[in-house]
Amino acid sequence: MTSPTLSGSPASAGAGTGDAELRDSLDPLATFPSRFVPSAEVVAYLDGNSLGRPLKVTKDRFGSFIEQQWGSRLIRSWDEEWFELPLTLGDRLGALTLGAAAGQTVVADSTTVMLYKLIRAAVDARPDRTEIVLDDDNFPTDRFIIEGIARERGLTVRYITVDKRYGVTTDQVSETVSDATALLVVSHVAYRSGYLADMQEITAAAHSAGALVLWDLCHSAGVIPTELDAWGVDLAVGCTYKYLNGGPGSPAFGYVASRLQTEIEQPIWGWMGAADVFGMRVEYQPAPGMRRFISGTPPVVGMLAMQDMLDLIDEAGMDAIRAKSIELTEAVLSFFDEKLAPLGVELASPRDSAFRGSHVTIRHESFKAVNEVLWENGVIPDFRNPDGLRIGLSPLSTTFSELRVGLEAIVEAMTHG
Ligand SMILES: Cc1ncc(COP(=O)(O)O)c(C=O)c1O
Repeated sequence: MTSPTLSGSPASAGAGTGDAELRDSLDPLATFPSRFVPSAEVVAYLDGNSLGRPLKVTKDRFGSFIEQQWGSRLIRSWDEEWFELPLTLGDRLGALTLGAAAGQTVVADSTTVMLYKLIRAAVDARPDRTEIVLDDDNFPTDRFIIEGIARERGLTVRYITVDKRYGVTTDQVSETVSDATALLVVSHVAYRSGYLADMQEITAAAHSAGALVLWDLCHSAGVIPTELDAWGVDLAVGCTYKYLNGGPGSPAFGYVASRLQTEIEQPIWGWMGAADVFGMRVEYQPAPGMRRFISGTPPVVGMLAMQDMLDLIDEAGMDAIRAKSIELTEAVLSFFDEKLAPLGVELASPRDSAFRGSHVTIRHESFKAVNEVLWENGVIPDFRNPDGLRIGLSPLSTTFSELRVGLEAIVEAMTHG
């Protein structure tokens, strides 16, 4: 893949949101949005990249969970399903969305805690190396966890300085990683700009310097197909409450390539990751395989809603989801060129869809105030200090018509709001 350009030609006129109803009627995924719980107050939800919407069917799942699994089967459900759920759900997530063969993905902890566990494990596996490399615009939790681990283990953090409208390029990685690098950490889709990093090339570049790589998949899991196994990825962590619609606080997932599972050792030893969980032994012996990356009791309630979303993803297919995501973000760019650029709004995301995830960021000094007006009127994008609006497109729940309503509301708030 070639490197991204900082400028690009404006999106083709007329390909915007003007024909939104027509585009909805032609959308192969048109039936999916009606399967989500409607909101009486929201006319355009453009923040699925922060918190995905719930599915109607999840109400039934919660009901039967309370009556059957929890209410009736009670503690027997641990043996019947819950004990294995972090691994069975991890395998399903891996197969449907990550390109990961079974036995390499686990659902557990929060993203922050899972990042800590896998980053600590990775740097300890390269004791002769002294640096962790990451970009200076990575998500705060990634940066803070790395800062803390570096202090704990006496390592240096080497930052790649990125253009905040884009993200980490292969060239920058090749220039920065060296035989001192224990681990490179990159977000697949940058939380600010939506920049989509080249996972395959960057992984290869880090490997050629002998470094391990950990990918943060928070903004790509469930919306951008990946091939973790085929691309030689070592480690990955992601959240499940964005495009996997697991609900607020649903747990993270972690991927550890089979070849590394016995080489690296995660630092939070708990009974649920031990070889003989109910053996109550004096000393810790890690379980074989991915179970050793679990620490304590799995958050079963938090794993319910995402199961319905995985069913939906299975039905729609990741390729169709990615295709619609591109169409939605292209529609934002066309609208931007026609109606927002003339108002002095800046684009802070890549123009080339090969380098763009599923959100588009635009900037204007008025956006803090504009966002307040939008939220009052049931249009929900997400404001990022000091002047960014992120327009998040969730292909299975967002319609072209809804997007048009939201974008027109931005113009309205800027001109009359
Ligand atoms: C890229 C990225 N990493 C990590 C996190 C969050 O971690 P946690 O789920 O522990 O809050 C987010 C949250 O939005 C994120 O965007």
